Amino acid sequence: MTTESKACSIAPVGAASLADSAFIRACFGKNKGRIPVWVMRQAGRYLPEYRALREKVSFLELCRTPEHVALATSDPIKRFGFDAAIMFSDILPLLEPMGFELEYAKGGPQVTPAIKSPDDVKRMVEYDVASKMDYVFGGVRAIKESIPQTPLLGVAGSPFTLACYAIEGHGSKTFDTVKQFMYKHPKAAEELLDKITSATIVYLQEQIKAGADGVQLFDSWSGILSVGEYSAWSLKYTSRIFEALKSYNVPRLLFVNNLAPYIHLVAELDCEVIGVDYRMDLAMAQRALPGKAIQGNLDPNILFCDPEEVSRRTRMMLESLDSHDNLIANLGHGILPPTPIESVSAFVETVHSFRS
Ligand code: CP3
Repeated sequence: MTTESKACSIAPVGAASLADSAFIRACFGKNKGRIPVWVMRQAGRYLPEYRALREKVSFLELCRTPEHVALATSDPIKRFGFDAAIMFSDILPLLEPMGFELEYAKGGPQVTPAIKSPDDVKRMVEYDVASKMDYVFGGVRAIKESIPQTPLLGVAGSPFTLACYAIEGHGSKTFDTVKQFMYKHPKAAEELLDKITSATIVYLQEQIKAGADGVQLFDSWSGILSVGEYSAWSLKYTSRIFEALKSYNVPRLLFVNNLAPYIHLVAELDCEVIGVDYRMDLAMAQRALPGKAIQGNLDPNILFCDPEEVSRRTRMMLESLDSHDNLIANLGHGILPPTPIESVSAFVETVHSFRS
C-alpha cells in the first residue's frame, strides 16, 4: 500500500465540532454570517509577544517545542480575534528527515548540502516523516488544547517551493539554478519532486490526524515559472497532494504567490480555497474560480498607512466582490515585520463589521 492510499474517511473531531465556524463555512462557500479573517505570518516578528518569545529561544527551538508552538500560534488569536489559527512552524523543517540540514542565519534559511547532481537526489534518505516530525504533531495537539474553539490550519510548502530551497540551498529572487537543474536533469527533477510529494502527503495527513481542521499549501516560488513549467513542475504534484487528502473532508487551501498566469489551471484543481496574492484583482480571481472560495488579498504594505486608510482600502476590497459567502479576508502575502499593530486591528475590525 502506498502512503497516499492510507487516507482514512473518518472526519477528525476538530473539524466536526468547528463545522459551523465562519472560517470553515466560508471555505465551503456557505458562509452567511460575518466574514472570517486571518493574516499570513500572523505569529511573526511584528507581534511583541512573538519577539519576547524569540528573546528566550531560537527559531528552530521554538518550532520544535510544542508548548512554545501553542503559545506562538494562540497569541495573535487572543490579541486580534482572528477567525483561523495557522500552526506555527516553517515549511522548511520537512527537508530535515530527507537528509538536509537546516539553519536560520541572518540572511535567511540555509539548506545543506544543496542538491547539485542526480546522484544527490538518489542519496535522499528513506525518511520516516510520521516519527521524525512528531514534534510538529505534538504542536498541533497542544494548540488544539489551548484554543479549541478556533479552526486550525496545518501547513506545508509545495513540492516545487521546497525543491527550490533543496537545490539552491537558500532563498533567491529568480532561482535560476533550480530551473537549470530541471532542464538538465528532467528524470532527477521528477524523482526529487516525487520524493518531496510523498513526504508532504504523510506530513499533512499526520497534521490532520493530530487535529488540524484544514491545511494550507504554500507555493511561494512557482510564480517564477512559465505556464507550461508550472503545469509540469508544480500543479501536477499539488494535485497529487490534494487528492491524497480528499477523504479527510477538511478544507484544502492553496496559496500561489503570483497566481494570475496560472489561474485557469488552478481553477481545475480539486481543492476548496485559493489564496490570491496582492498582484491580482480579487473580484477577477473570484470570477475565474467558480465553485471555490477565495482568500486574500490586501497588499501588506497598506498596513503601513494610518488605521482610517487601512479601513478604507479594506472596504474597497470587500465592496469590489460579487459574493462574500466564499470569502476569507487575508493579506496578499505575509505580514511584514515592522507592521504597526493598530493597522492589524483596523483590518480585522473592518472585515468583521462589514457584514454582521
Ligand atoms: O504564518 C504563520 O504565522 C505560521 C508560521 C510560518 C512561518 N513561515 C514562520 C516564520 C509559515 C506558514 C511560514 C511559511 C514559509 N516559510 C514560506 C511560505 C510563505 C511565504 O512567505 O511565501 C516560506 C517561503 C518560508 C521560508 C522562510 N522562513 C524564509 C524565507 C524565512 C526568512 C525570512 C523571514 O521572514 O525571516 C523564514 C523564517 C520564518 N518563518 C520566520 C517566521 C516567523 C522568522 C523567523 C524569526 O527570525 O523569528
